[in-house]
Amino acid sequence: MTFAHRHLLGIEPLSQADITSVLDLADQYVTLNRGAQKHSDALAGLTQINMFFENSTRTQSSFELAGKRLGADVMNMSMQTSSVKKGETLIDTALTLNAMHPDLLVVRHPNSGAVALLAQKVNCAVLNAGDGRHEHPTQALLDALTIRRKKGRLHRLTIAICGDIAHSRVARSNLILLGKMENRVRLVGPPTLMPAGIGEFGAEVCHDMREGLKDADVVMMLRLQKERMDGGFIPSEREYYHRYGLDAEKLSHAKPDAIVMHPGPMNRGVEIDGAIADDINRSVIQEQVEMGVAVRMAAMDLLARNLRAERAGKDVAV
Ligand code: NCD
Repeated sequence: MTFAHRHLLGIEPLSQADITSVLDLADQYVTLNRGAQKHSDALAGLTQINMFFENSTRTQSSFELAGKRLGADVMNMSMQTSSVKKGETLIDTALTLNAMHPDLLVVRHPNSGAVALLAQKVNCAVLNAGDGRHEHPTQALLDALTIRRKKGRLHRLTIAICGDIAHSRVARSNLILLGKMENRVRLVGPPTLMPAGIGEFGAEVCHDMREGLKDADVVMMLRLQKERMDGGFIPSEREYYHRYGLDAEKLSHAKPDAIVMHPGPMNRGVEIDGAIADDINRSVIQEQVEMGVAVRMAAMDLLARNLRAERAGKDVAV
C-alpha cells in the first residue's frame, strides 16, 4: 500500500495509487464495521482531536466513530464555546492543542486554506474535514468508494455533479478525484452557481439538467450552500427546483441503472425530490454515510502508520 503523506489536506496532492490504497483499506473496514466485533487496535495509544469550527452532523460523528473503532482516545473540542469566541486566533488554538500531544487532528473551518495553515504549526497528522469552499477530501474518497462498490469500477464512468458548484468543496474534491481516476465529469447548474475559471479542470459545463444527465452513470446532487451566498444567486427556491431539482422525469435522462448521490444535509424539495432520495433502487445516500466511517478509518490508519514510522526514525518520504 502506498500513501506517503503526513497529512490529508486535499485530493490535489494524491496520486491514483494513493486513492486506490485508501479505498482498498476502506473496503476491509467496511467488512469489520458490518461484523459483530467492530474493534481494531490500529490507533491504540494515539490521541485524536476533532476541531469543528463549522457545524457538522455526519462528518464529525463519522470521524469520532472511526477513531473509536480503531482504539484511539478521541476528544471533540466544542469550538462554539471555546476560546476562539474570546478572540483567540486559529494558530494560538492550534499551538495550545499541540502542547497536549495529539497524534491526529481533524479540522473543519469556514476559511479555505485554514486547515493547511494549521498543519504547518503542529507536530501531528492533520485531516481536512472541509475548509470553506476549497476541499473536503474524505467526502470525495467516500463518494469514490460508494461508486466503486456500486458500479464495480472507478474509471470511464459518466458522472454528473449538479447544483451549487461554486460554493461546494464537495464538488471541488470530487471533480479532482474523478478526473484523476479518468472519468468523464459534467458540472450541471445555473451559470450563477458555476465558479470562475471552471474550464481549467477539464470538465464539461452544462446549464440544462436533462442535457447534463444524459446517459450518466452517476448523478451527484449538491446542497444549495446558502450560508456561503452573499447575494441573489437564484431567483427563488421554487424556480430552482423546477429547473435543477432532481425528480423522476429529469432522472429518466440518465442511464436506467444510474445511482443518485447526495453528501447531506439534504434540502428535500429544493435540490432533490424526497421520493428519489428515499428510493432504495436508485439512491445510495445511506451507503455514502456507511462508507464514510470506513474511509475515515482507512485514512487515519494510513496516516498513523506514517507517523509511527517517522517517529521510529524510518524514512517514509512524506
Ligand atoms: C458537506 C459539507 O459540509 O461540505 N456535507 C458533509 O460533509 N456531509 C456538504 C454540505 O454541507 O452541503
